[in-house]
Amino acid sequence: MSSESVAPASDWDGARYDRLADPQARWGDTVLERLQLAGDETVLDAGCGSGRVTEQLLERLPNGRVIALDASRSMLETARRRLERWQERVRLVGVDLLDLGPSTLGDDAPVDAALSTATFHWVTDHDRLFANLATVIRPGGQLVAQCGAEGNIESVVRAVRALGVERAGTWLYASTEETSERLRRAGFVETRVWTNPEPTPFPSDADLTDFLEAVCLREHIATLPPAERRPFSERVAAALPGRTIDYVRLNIIARRAG
Ligand SMILES: C[S@@+](CC[C@H](N)C(=O)[O-])C[C@H]1O[C@@H](n2cnc3c(N)ncnc32)[C@H](O)[C@@H]1O
Repeated sequence: MSSESVAPASDWDGARYDRLADPQARWGDTVLERLQLAGDETVLDAGCGSGRVTEQLLERLPNGRVIALDASRSMLETARRRLERWQERVRLVGVDLLDLGPSTLGDDAPVDAALSTATFHWVTDHDRLFANLATVIRPGGQLVAQCGAEGNIESVVRAVRALGVERAGTWLYASTEETSERLRRAGFVETRVWTNPEPTPFPSDADLTDFLEAVCLREHIATLPPAERRPFSERVAAALPGRTIDYVRLNIIARRAG
């Protein structure tokens, strides 16, 4: 297991995310099933985070290899610990997806497939993202991904606005139509793009507040003085009906033209 130059530290807390990311791990299992694998492929996990989904991917590749890529140093440190036992077959790469290209992956490019879960909406230039992915997937190779869709976490966005904050994060929740068109322009074919609601309830106010603080509100929270962080998240949590985050997922299956 090796890692290369790591992009500037982001403010994700890898260990905390790893503890809280049960919803993402659950969705990731479903997305992973959509990859057609013989077991000996090389697969890029684009935005591997703390490695929970990566681990499931490695289970499906007994004779294959995974390139686990992420821009966050903290996430990669947590992923390194989690993926220790797979070290012969996984390579950690610290790079921004907007800088991804064949030279980033060296001998591992082109990959047979790219998987990405809960990541693309954090990358706000999808034209460049898909174009970059097309340069590292072999002709005919698969792209299987899921991220936030248009309408994702609207009740959180409304609650934040009610507290006088226009945007709590720099995310892009794209529509199916614009995503299909972007994939086509980037050189993908056989594209299927669709959305599904994933309303996600939390067992207690504290659990919901923790999750909002570490994931959905993370970027805005980092701009607040420490004493104001928890109260802000608690007020957003209190405004969500049924202690539920109204997630909507954007699903992508495509092949690189070949
Ligand atoms: C919510 S986590 C998802 C992690 C994992 N795939 C999962 O499903 O649990 C989003 C990840 O995307 C990464 N990320 C966001 N923008 C990125 C970018 N431009 N380049 C590379 N990674 C990025 C973050 O560092 C973070 O680890």
